[in-house]
Amino acid sequence: MRLAGLTLLLLVASVEAAAEEKVIDAQTGLVIAPGWQDVRAHCGGCHSHALVTQQRADRDTWLAMIRWMQATQNLWQFQPETEQSILDYLSEQYPARRGQRRQPLAEDLLPP
Ligand code: HEC
Repeated sequence: MRLAGLTLLLLVASVEAAAEEKVIDAQTGLVIAPGWQDVRAHCGGCHSHALVTQQRADRDTWLAMIRWMQATQNLWQFQPETEQSILDYLSEQYPARRGQRRQPLAEDLLPP
């Protein structure tokens, strides 16, 4: 009985882990998800796609980076639907990371 419960638990855990696993394109390193071909086509010509995949940002910040490249680095303008697709993909797959630092110690835990 107890073993069956444990087996079920392990099964559920591994199914959940598999659902979270992302498929990575071997050539570019991009997560394969809706919009990834737009990013493959438009974001690897001047620098490696790795510069994209190592970055994390919210949607506005991704847009700001694109605007910066358009203003200063000769990045071309996108059709609105292409830009939406790229921003959806980037903010979905490479979102801003939550702070990884611990909370500061409570006042009463600090040394005098
Ligand atoms: C026309 C050339 C060009 C294209 C195309 C291009 N970039 Fe860039 N990008 C640059 C240059 C130049 C830099 C600065 C490189 C450096 O600092 O080494 C840069 C830097 C970056 C950075 C690092 C910015 C930072 O603040 O650290 C990211 C992220 C980035 N690009 C993402 C993208 C994405 C996403 C796309 C597609 C929408 C894209 N790039 C397409 C030229 C381009």
